[in-house]
Amino acid sequence: MRKKILFLSSTRGSNFKAVLDYIQAKQLEIEVLGLITDIPDAGCLGIAGEYGVPSRVIPFREYKENKALYHDKLFSALDTLSPDLIVTAGYMRILRSDIISRFKNRIINIHPSLLPSFQGLHAIPQAMQYGVRFTGCTTHFVEEGVDTGPIILQSIVEILPNSTESDLTESIHKEEHKILPLSVEYFCADRLEVSGRIVRIKESKP
Ligand code: GRF
Repeated sequence: MRKKILFLSSTRGSNFKAVLDYIQAKQLEIEVLGLITDIPDAGCLGIAGEYGVPSRVIPFREYKENKALYHDKLFSALDTLSPDLIVTAGYMRILRSDIISRFKNRIINIHPSLLPSFQGLHAIPQAMQYGVRFTGCTTHFVEEGVDTGPIILQSIVEILPNSTESDLTESIHKEEHKILPLSVEYFCADRLEVSGRIVRIKESKP
């Protein structure tokens, strides 16, 4: 059955775009319900416009005094749209637990490190400062812990001796643009089976 997906993003949206391009290129049976952002001038809104994806802004900064209301609005928007899958593609907030439980194992996040190393907001500079030789990116299901949920796919990027943070960010993004669309495709084809922390990727049906 055709799956309905929804994106949450706070950023420029290159991962959002990569998934939209992949769906178009492979003509996947996926309906993109929309994009919700917490940032009124986020780049992802321009991409939504370009691709004709409905978008909505729930501006977090207007709810600073009443964060619960922000989360209530987000919950209600998600509950109404009722997607099969939520993709957090550069969504820079922590989802409230009622959203995570309402969409258990149906929220996929992309993170710019090889989890469980370098969780949180500054994964790329942290990997460089730590001196690891390899880093990369990870897609995972979202659970209550930050960047701790069951891992779907990972891709490795080497940190060369003369790599700058911007080189590394670019190399990681290239890999993100491969593993996020693939993770969405697997989910939408019912190929992901989650058992505790372990995600099994089932063979595709002929
Ligand atoms: C990506 O690096 C992703 O891993 C992180 O936020 C960034 C979003 O980038 N969660 P973009 O907006 O998709 O270009």
